[in-house]
Amino acid sequence: MSSSLCSLVLFLFTVCGMISVSSATLKVGFYGAKCPEAEAIVKKAVNKAVSRNPGIGAGLIRLHFHDCFVRGCDASVLLDSTPGNPPEKEHIANNPSLRGFEVIDEAKSEIEAKCPQTVSCADILAFAARDSAKKLGSITYSVPAGRRDGRISLKDDPSLHLPPSFFNARQLQDNFASKGLSLDEMVTLSGAHSIGGSHCSSFSTRLYSFNATHKQDPSLDANFAKELKKKCPSSGVSNKDPTVALDVISPNRLDNKYYMDLKNHHGVLTSDQTLLTSPLTARIVRENARHGSAWAHKFASAMVKMGSIEVLTGSKGEIRKNCRVVN
Ligand code: HEM
Ligand SMILES: *[C@@H]1O[C@H](CO)[C@@H](O)[C@H](O)[C@H]1NC(C)=O
Repeated sequence: MSSSLCSLVLFLFTVCGMISVSSATLKVGFYGAKCPEAEAIVKKAVNKAVSRNPGIGAGLIRLHFHDCFVRGCDASVLLDSTPGNPPEKEHIANNPSLRGFEVIDEAKSEIEAKCPQTVSCADILAFAARDSAKKLGSITYSVPAGRRDGRISLKDDPSLHLPPSFFNARQLQDNFASKGLSLDEMVTLSGAHSIGGSHCSSFSTRLYSFNATHKQDPSLDANFAKELKKKCPSSGVSNKDPTVALDVISPNRLDNKYYMDLKNHHGVLTSDQTLLTSPLTARIVRENARHGSAWAHKFASAMVKMGSIEVLTGSKGEIRKNCRVVN
């Protein structure tokens, strides 16, 4: 055998090895034999809830993101408080804005009735995020499964790992890189802001107290800012914190219109509009705005990659009986 063929074989072997690394532990169809109805049960619960309220689909996708970025995709975000132990869900980034918990509970209890202590809450959440993307964006992908549930959830953890909404493109890049996600994946996953909403408190500094020379963020379209101010009065009416749609063009459709919003300077969060303002990411925004189906494919792959961050597999962690409490 020629040495060049040898090195080709060696090269392919190495490349295949590298590709399988990230998915070696999680497998598509993981519950095929152990609990064949698991994925269908999750899908049914998600479709029912999202038909009633599309915002729940946004909530489920965000829940998966907030789970995976903090202690890996281990369902730590689902754990309730116990005396003396405030969990992740009590952090300001999560409370009161995270939603969709009841959908996970419903799917879990139906699954437990059929296959006790077999299907992890972390996998149920990954399936639910996928089913939401299907329902709200016709985006389809298979979810490698086999995650196990963690036993630790700490209120202070989200500040160490979740990107705040005032981050600029460079800071967002670094934050996603720390989780193994590329710049392109960061911009692509931000497209999740094509659905759901934001509380006024998450962006009101852009409207009223931007910096020393500009009260209002100049990267925000003036007319759009006027609309946002109507919905988000400065001296908050009582102590209400209203919400606005993150994508004004198609608020309940998971599509690439979000990138059009950015081009129109209608990005709601600093972390949204910065993707167009920064030369680091502007080109990716324009590409995603132009090529919707290419974006959708990248979104699906990036969701799978995000879903594999720091997962517990094999005999690590546990399979919770109730997603809100450790066994
Ligand atoms: C790039 C960094 C990101 C930042 C700074 C960020 C920040 C935020 C903020 C501040 C909100 C509004 C919360 C509120 O006030 O109610 C929000 C909502 C949302 N985020 Fe992100 N996010 C980021 C990335 C992501 C990613 C990667 C996903 C999922 C793949 C995601 C999915 C969502 C969804 C779906 C909503 C709407 C939730 C709802 O309506 O319940 N975000 N995000
Ligand atoms: C305020 O923001 C504008 C626009 O981003 C910027 O050009 C200016 O330098 C900032 N001013 C201060 C004092 O930070």
